[in-house]
Amino acid sequence: MCGIVGHIGPKDSVEIVLEGLSRLEYRGYDSAGVSFIDENDSLQIYKKSGKLENLKGLLKDKDYKARMCIGHTRWATHGEVNDVNSHPHMKDHISIVHNGIIENASSLRKELAAEGYDFKSETDSEVFLALITRELAAGKEFKQAMLDSFKLVEGHSAFVVLNENVLEIMSIKKGAPLVCGINTVDSEAFVSSDPYALAGMASQLYFPADNVLCHLSAKNKNLINFYDSEGNPTDDFMSKKQDMSVGPTDKGQFEHFMLKEIHEQPELIRSLTQFYFHGEGLESLKKAGEFVPSKFHISACGTAYYAGLLVRDFLEMYNKIPCSPELASEFRYRNPLLQKGESGLFISQSGETADTLAAQELCTNSELKTLSIVNVDGSTLFRNCDNNLLIRAGIEIGVASTKAFTQQALTGRLLSLALTKELNDEASRVKLTAKFSLLAEKIDHLISRSEEIKVIAESIHNHKGFFYTGRGVYFPVALEGALKLKEIAYVHAEGYAAGELKHGPIAMIDEDMVNVALVGPELFEKTVSNIQEIKARKGVILSIGPKDNEELAELSDYYFGIDFDGLDELSPIYINIVNQLLAYYIAKYKGTDIDKPRNLAKSVTVE
Ligand code: M6R
Repeated sequence: MCGIVGHIGPKDSVEIVLEGLSRLEYRGYDSAGVSFIDENDSLQIYKKSGKLENLKGLLKDKDYKARMCIGHTRWATHGEVNDVNSHPHMKDHISIVHNGIIENASSLRKELAAEGYDFKSETDSEVFLALITRELAAGKEFKQAMLDSFKLVEGHSAFVVLNENVLEIMSIKKGAPLVCGINTVDSEAFVSSDPYALAGMASQLYFPADNVLCHLSAKNKNLINFYDSEGNPTDDFMSKKQDMSVGPTDKGQFEHFMLKEIHEQPELIRSLTQFYFHGEGLESLKKAGEFVPSKFHISACGTAYYAGLLVRDFLEMYNKIPCSPELASEFRYRNPLLQKGESGLFISQSGETADTLAAQELCTNSELKTLSIVNVDGSTLFRNCDNNLLIRAGIEIGVASTKAFTQQALTGRLLSLALTKELNDEASRVKLTAKFSLLAEKIDHLISRSEEIKVIAESIHNHKGFFYTGRGVYFPVALEGALKLKEIAYVHAEGYAAGELKHGPIAMIDEDMVNVALVGPELFEKTVSNIQEIKARKGVILSIGPKDNEELAELSDYYFGIDFDGLDELSPIYINIVNQLLAYYIAKYKGTDIDKPRNLAKSVTVE
């Protein structure tokens, strides 16, 4: 959610932190701020609500030379979006940035206010500042003040604190992402909520365990020292060379990242099969298939959960392994029945989604083997699972997940193959490669028809609501299509099992309601009957179904025919590309901020 970046070193710290923040901005963009030590060793702070651009505007004409800086992009949890609630928060030469939620903030706030602390903001984060300054005022050293304050806060959080008095940065976390890094050549130390912010800057990364205090100081021989909760040196962190590159993060010829990412899908599909079937990924795929569980508990959030529903279909269809897919936020608190021999399967683009991480932890604590289907190599989910399959989607910037969904579902199909002996059979791999290539080819063709989808979007974008319907394997993509539209076009949309509409929601159908009917070759007649029911109630029908189908064309106000031939189980992934483009063009006609829709963040690190 919130992005954090900190830097100490001889280079311009503000510039480095702003660069890091700009890489994380897509993850939270309610406000942005930095605090830094200037050439007179004095702490400066600049913060502004709105996007990072606003902060950059504030700093534009300032003349400073900073050699230590912390910065933040906010996704608001406590307190409205305004300048005062923006991070950093500062008092008594101390400034802090925070990602997470302090669950006991309100009781601590009362206690601190009663002691005379004058809160400036409505944030929970300022409570940590109040605690630190209280401990320092009581005469404790910075390190001890951090450790003692951290013991008082509940919930999942990461804090980075800049102390002007000692010219040092300290950070600590529990259940929230945090990474430190160094570049020994230039004597620089970094801290961030995401290794991507440090790509190309830090050569060595350290992922501290929970409750480990990270101490960044130019005076440290190692630039960063780590301490346990008693203040003793510790090596309770995972160390790894930085192998991430910044990669192309511009939109190229595209107006939005979302559109660019939709267009990337055919190439990504091709390279996924190449990697897993004919390249270095084959061994990891084989390893993922070594353990055949008696059941998969599939857990994920949002789009990743809908991909999980497709993965369930693959695993049940091809492997006859029972699957229990569940939203991670529900799974974690439901006391699910977890039994020996079963496995937890977690699907995530970021690998940092708080609920998915908690679901994984629950499975590990119940001694289940855990496997992830994840995009970000080295993410917390990746590190915590026993085994991982990378979806290799590259960085996804658009908040609305598109290419990650496709790659997650396809990686699930690869897993289902890995769980059979067929994977060892070259002929089977070649056959599936051909099917994936066919999918890529057909998606290329679909994309080339974008203009047709745009025309439909123009006609329907002002309707009051949308029901996406599908049956069987198309139901998950009905859910996903509706989610895509809601999040980027701010239109009310529901995904429904086509046969379920008449059990209630059909009451909402009128001439202002659009039914986006996802019609596959399977259960065709039954789905058409469901469309008839909506048509009879004057609903506007947009059907996306088998090409050249006169029945569908006649029945529908809008008909987009597609060619499912040869795709079989991959058909829902294919039809979903139309959903993505439809949502994109409806949002475009609505004039919304497609890549950074309101109220959202790319990575949801709070529960
Ligand atoms: O990073 P994750 O895949 O774990 O994220 C899960 C959801 O937050 C995410 O898929 C969300 O629903 C997307 N914004 C939907 O487009």
